[in-house]
Amino acid sequence: MEGLVSSLFDVQSLPETYVLPPEKRPGNLIFPPGKSNIPVLDLGGHDRHEIIQQIMKASEEFGFFQVINHGVSKELMDETMNVVKEFHAMPAKDKFLECSKDPNRNCKLYSSSEKYATEEIHYWRDCLMHSGLSTEEYMQFWPAKPTRYREVVGTYSNEVRQLGSRILELISEGLKLSSGYFSGGLSRSPTILINHYPRCPEPSLTLGLPRHRDPSVITIILQDDVQGLQVYKDGEWITVEPLPHAFVVNLGYVLQIVNNDKLNGAEHRVVTNSSDARTTVSFFIYPSGESIIEPAKTLVCDPPLYRALKFKDFHVNFLSKSADADAVHKFISSKNCFINGEN
Ligand code: OGA
Ligand code: NI
Repeated sequence: MEGLVSSLFDVQSLPETYVLPPEKRPGNLIFPPGKSNIPVLDLGGHDRHEIIQQIMKASEEFGFFQVINHGVSKELMDETMNVVKEFHAMPAKDKFLECSKDPNRNCKLYSSSEKYATEEIHYWRDCLMHSGLSTEEYMQFWPAKPTRYREVVGTYSNEVRQLGSRILELISEGLKLSSGYFSGGLSRSPTILINHYPRCPEPSLTLGLPRHRDPSVITIILQDDVQGLQVYKDGEWITVEPLPHAFVVNLGYVLQIVNNDKLNGAEHRVVTNSSDARTTVSFFIYPSGESIIEPAKTLVCDPPLYRALKFKDFHVNFLSKSADADAVHKFISSKNCFINGEN
């Protein structure tokens, strides 16, 4: 059983296995006062054309935006955050027990990354991962404790999935893709990651998550009121300011592939802090494993930059190389002639 960061909670100094080499450390973190300039978009308006313009602009500039008036109730967002915090506050053995019933390991609890056993350095996060589909087939393996967990997170998943479909419809219209382009296989296997970043004794030496792109179409994040998520833009790390009851949306790698680099998956990371634990719920819109991901034929007037791949082949490769963006890129590039997935 791997060690959870939350079980190290009261350590006074950072265990050596979490200390990053100097060039990968976040350095001394000073959160700039005031609001970050990640765009905040109001989805409650009626001017569809205008909202599409805003989404496209934010996507081009940042690959990130926040949404308000998105239709998911504040009560449901609060209840979800409360219940997932309660989950991470349970004793480690109960948490592992609740996540060990799924023979397919779709529901699992791990620390740092899915490569904990083989990675040299760990990150300061615990993660509960399971399907974002709330049918009995999947939900039977979700934690049954806290007792409200399945009901609350099930309702949350349904609503966030609908919000995701809506946002993807707007993006496909903005990209001039056919309506419903993302609504089939490309969004069939949503996944929830419940991230917990305990207080960290030495935040300048480690990270909650390293610099990465999400291997999703888009990701919809609910953050609590503690800062930590940062977006890389023009050589700087910009903090995504927590806004009560807003969702953070970011573009993932699959979307970048589909639109042949017109919009890029955004690079981001998570920093820790010494005063407050932080909890987030990431809803990844993922294709089914058998879906083919490739640049949309109607979009590509330039040569396609990526070769066609089954999502599961992309995903396995991504997970094995995610810390190395160049290696991932090489694997999916259209210049890569190896087709057996071994490269
Ligand atoms: C992720 C992620 C951000 C956060 O789950 O991939 O980037 O703030 N999460 O937890
Ligand atoms: Ni991410």
